[in-house]
Amino acid sequence: MYFDFYNGGAEDQYTLKENVEAFHRITFRPRILVDVSRISMSTTILGHRISAPIMIAPTSFHKLAHPEGEIATARAAASCNTIMALSFSSTCTVEEVASSCNAVRFFQIYVYKRRDVTSMLVQRAERNGFKAMILTVDTPRIGRREADIKNRMISPHLKNFEGLLSTEVASDKGSNLEAFAAEVLDRSICWKDIEWLRSITSLPILIKGVLTHEDAIKAMEVGVAGIVVSNHGARQLDYSPATITVLEEVVHAVGGKIPVLIDGGVRRGTDIFKALALGAQAVMIGRPILYGLAAKGECGVRRVIEMLKDELELTMALSGCPTLKDITRSHVRTDQDRFN
Ligand code: FNR
Repeated sequence: MYFDFYNGGAEDQYTLKENVEAFHRITFRPRILVDVSRISMSTTILGHRISAPIMIAPTSFHKLAHPEGEIATARAAASCNTIMALSFSSTCTVEEVASSCNAVRFFQIYVYKRRDVTSMLVQRAERNGFKAMILTVDTPRIGRREADIKNRMISPHLKNFEGLLSTEVASDKGSNLEAFAAEVLDRSICWKDIEWLRSITSLPILIKGVLTHEDAIKAMEVGVAGIVVSNHGARQLDYSPATITVLEEVVHAVGGKIPVLIDGGVRRGTDIFKALALGAQAVMIGRPILYGLAAKGECGVRRVIEMLKDELELTMALSGCPTLKDITRSHVRTDQDRFN
């Protein structure tokens, strides 16, 4: 049940497959005879220096993968010198995660019908040293995840909400998670609510779930500090485009004014290089982190990040790019280029 929950996507899982396969369709235009004896992967995200453009995406319920849950993930982020985004639906509290390590942490939020609950969590995260808020905007309702429905997926205890909200939802059929989401998520959330969010936090706000240039422009108009191109790991609207196929459209609309991050289907260092070549400032990793956590806790998450870093470093060397700045649009060939 838990593996299906982690692994699965929505409905036909078209987007789930596409997120990965769209990366495979991009090839390289490597440059030769460049001095690659030294490779530098370090970058800054909203002013925070990290060792490589690889961040941990917000994913829920880490205790389903490992008893130490999000604490193990955060410790791995700290030891790899990268940023972890903690999910609103975490199984450890924001306080527990904050006190367990000194990783730079962002906090992902959902807007609940009970706005006071969202607001309280935002304030707790801010008090506990989280550095940015990531508002996930692709989830006014939860996607139709058929494996969870079939398995009657049970939501674990969400410690963050203790004393604030009951997470016990009576559902005698289908996914318990879906029933919980239907009860708590505010389906009315819209652009004007960014202003509300801004009124309850002074931290920078990133918006996660942008897939079109129209929405990228609106996001900039409402003053967000960054954009995450994401289709929620293909768990929401099936037949959404693979994120890597729309990255450039968003990057062009943004015109370098704010950072653009991307997640969905990043499985190799070569994928990271492709995302950077198409204009992303960094990638976020979802499922591979969960699999590392399930296999070997903190050590497993660290290993996943190290493998991706090693692969990116090798890709940079073999394509003649000693620094991230050297990676340009002309280092990759996409479907689009072939048609033109
Ligand atoms: C997610 N994702 C997610 N996103 C979010 O904003 N809040 C959340 O609580 C969760 N929870 C969650 C659980 C699980 C099991 C998965 C797989 C994903 C989406 C996540 O942040 C990210 O967008 C995708 O996981 C990226 O795709 P990959 O790397 O999993 O292909």
